[in-house]
Amino acid sequence: MTIDNLVLDTIRKRRSVRRFRDLQIPDETLRAIVEAGDWAPSACNDQSWHFTLIQDRQLMDRISVASKEALRRSETKWMVDLGNNPDFHVFYRAPTVLIASYRENAVDPHADLCAAVENILLAAWSLGVGSCWVGLARGFLSSPEAPMLLELPQGYKAAYAVALGFPFEATTGNGPARKSAPFHWIKEGKVLREER
Ligand SMILES: Cc1cc2nc3c(=O)[nH]c(=O)nc-3n(C[C@H](O)[C@H](O)[C@H](O)COP(=O)(O)O)c2cc1C
Repeated sequence: MTIDNLVLDTIRKRRSVRRFRDLQIPDETLRAIVEAGDWAPSACNDQSWHFTLIQDRQLMDRISVASKEALRRSETKWMVDLGNNPDFHVFYRAPTVLIASYRENAVDPHADLCAAVENILLAAWSLGVGSCWVGLARGFLSSPEAPMLLELPQGYKAAYAVALGFPFEATTGNGPARKSAPFHWIKEGKVLREER
């Protein structure tokens, strides 16, 4: 029997979206999506994240170009190929890009940030907004010029981006297959292995 509810349904159906409608997301919807990040768990309740919402085509294109330059310097062939692909835009020309940054002196900034980003992806999906977590902008986001260009508060560094927009086509909830990895319990001294 599969247990189901609204949260589990959102978790199971969320898929990365890489084609967006030419329609901006309302500000109130974006506020609700960003607020979902606030409720993520964080080490010592540090809440060490900072989010930047970009709705500026020139800036998004500039970051995409700089990220592709960094990809071309990679030693991994598929990354170099993406960097050389004139049709590839790291943000898939989404109408809004969220930059997820972390406070450098936090207890566990990367774990905090990833928890918040996942909340954001799920909240977006639940509101009909498609998203794609973008790690391929990292080459630029981790560069010395990024904090200034992004107007980040002192002591913060950018790590990830999330492309956000209404999906171009209705998504079926299908996506890359999941492995249903076997797991095991340790129950009162007994080890029980579960094949799924
Ligand atoms: C840390 C991280 C970085 C990612 N970077 C990219 C990226 O740069 N570009 C992209 O298209 N997808 C990126 N993804 C999305 C994954 O490709 C996607 O989540 C995975 O294939 C599973 O598909 P699904 O999200 O549709 O379930 C990233 C995901 C994570 C967690």
